[in-house]
This record gives sequence, C-alpha cells and structure tokens, in this order.
Amino acid sequence: MVVSPRSLAIELALEAGRLLRERLGHVQAIRYKGEINLVTDVDLASERLILHRIREEFPEHAILSEEQPTSAEVLRAPYTWVVDPLDGTTNFAHGYPMFAVSIAWLCEGEPYIGVVYQPMLDELFVAERGHGAYLNGQRLYVSTEHVLRRSLLATGFPYDAERRRQAVRDFVHFIDVARAIRRDGTAAIDLCYVAAGRFDGFWERELSPWDTAAGVLLVREAGGMVTNEAGEPYRLGDLVCVASNGQIHQEMLAVLAAAQHQQDPHDD
Ligand code: IPD
Ligand code: CA
Ligand code: CA
Repeated sequence: MVVSPRSLAIELALEAGRLLRERLGHVQAIRYKGEINLVTDVDLASERLILHRIREEFPEHAILSEEQPTSAEVLRAPYTWVVDPLDGTTNFAHGYPMFAVSIAWLCEGEPYIGVVYQPMLDELFVAERGHGAYLNGQRLYVSTEHVLRRSLLATGFPYDAERRRQAVRDFVHFIDVARAIRRDGTAAIDLCYVAAGRFDGFWERELSPWDTAAGVLLVREAGGMVTNEAGEPYRLGDLVCVASNGQIHQEMLAVLAAAQHQQDPHDD
C-alpha cells in the first residue's frame, strides 16, 4: 500500500508517543550535550523508530533529526523530514509529564505537513499546508484577543547560560505587560497551544528547526502569524521565533525591541 507523508507522520508520531509514555519514569541512560543539555536513551529509541520507517518508506527524502549529526543544508533538499523525537527532554528526564513528538515534512524548505503528539494527554495536532490545523480531528483557530495586557503568553529559555541573559531581559519586559506567562519546556507544544487559542502568543530565541517546523505550520494554518523579531515571516533557523494570533503581534515585536535596546550591565 502506498503511504502518504501525512499518514506516515501521524502514524509515527502516535507510535513514538506511545513509546515515550511507556518509558516515562524508566530513563536508563543520560548523556550530556552541553553543561545542562541532556539526551536520554529514550530520545534515541524514539528517533530510531521514526527514522527507520521514514528511510524504509521514502529512501530518497532527506532527514534533519535532532540527535543525528547532519548539516542544515538538507533543508534545501526537494523533500525533507524534520524530526524532534522527544521535545521536552528535560521534563521527561525529571518525570514531568509534558513532552511531545514533533514531525514535519517539507518541500523545498517549506513545511507542508506538521504533526505534534502529546502522548500523556493523547492530543494529536495535525496541519497540512492550505488545509487547516486540527486537534484530534477538530479544526483549530487562534484566539481573538487583541490586547497584550489580557493575553496569556508562553516562552522558553536556551540551554546556554550565557545566552539566557537576553532571554531573561525579554521575559522581564513581557511580564510587565502581559496577563501571565507560562514556561512549559516544550516549544513544539507551545506553538500548538497558540494554534489552539490556549496561548495568545509565544516567543523564544535560539530554537532549532526540529523544535519549530511542525508547530509553525500549525499556527499559520490556524490563522496565526509567525515571524522573526524584525516582523519578517519566520524561516527555520531564524534566531527568534514570535508566534501569535496576529492581533497582538505588533505589540509583542515592540516589547522585544525594547528589551533588546536595554543595556546589559554585564556587557561591558
Ligand atoms: C527544548 C524545548 C524547550 C525549549 C528549548 C528546546 P528539547 O527542546 O523545546 O521548550 O525551551 O530551547 O531545546 O531539547 O527538549 O528537545
Ligand atoms: Ca526540541
Ligand atoms: Ca528533542
């Protein structure tokens, strides 16, 4: 039977998600990619499962997956799979049940299929370019809130301690002007929650293509906006990702600009 990228992405997200659910609380090996950035045996098992099937079904497609050393050049291939086999590894390693599998399929660098699965809540987010975004089969739309002061936002912080400084400055500026901010440790889910109208906006610096490829499509297909800090359409690999319902976007960009212009007393 011929498998479509969409059905394969869904099947693999569900299968890998089941593996994550079963292995929660049973991490056997942890390796460090940096001082605090870790990878567990479960990240690797999930990745093996996903990549094996993609290579079997679509041997000619390129793959960019978090735990596989590859150049981001593969994003220029005609067809590329972008995979985060476990988004929220820190949560997972601590037994905090908020994490996901994120799988995107790109044509010429543009996401066409985006699938994110949160196995603990059994929530499957699926978007297809031009065909909308869905949560467990229900069409998704971003929120209609147009005032930042009444908005619920989300963000995250880079693993690199040095780079966290600017992220903290951004946070301090936003906490003054938003209703509240959440930090749940999985950018893929944060983006899906913007698509679902649960969050009105999200921003984060230093994300990688596998964190955002699927979620960005979800937000756009739900009627939202995703840009870099300059307000240009977000492209995989951009330094800053700003996602929102569109209504509060300019206000969010203005807050980020103000935060960036603030002098860091440690900088000189
Ligand atoms: C991380 C999560 C987190 C974000 C980090 C990412 P990982 O991905 O998405 O929310 O703040 O920047 O690296 O390492 O758990 O796959
Ligand atoms: Ca990730
Ligand atoms: Ca990951």
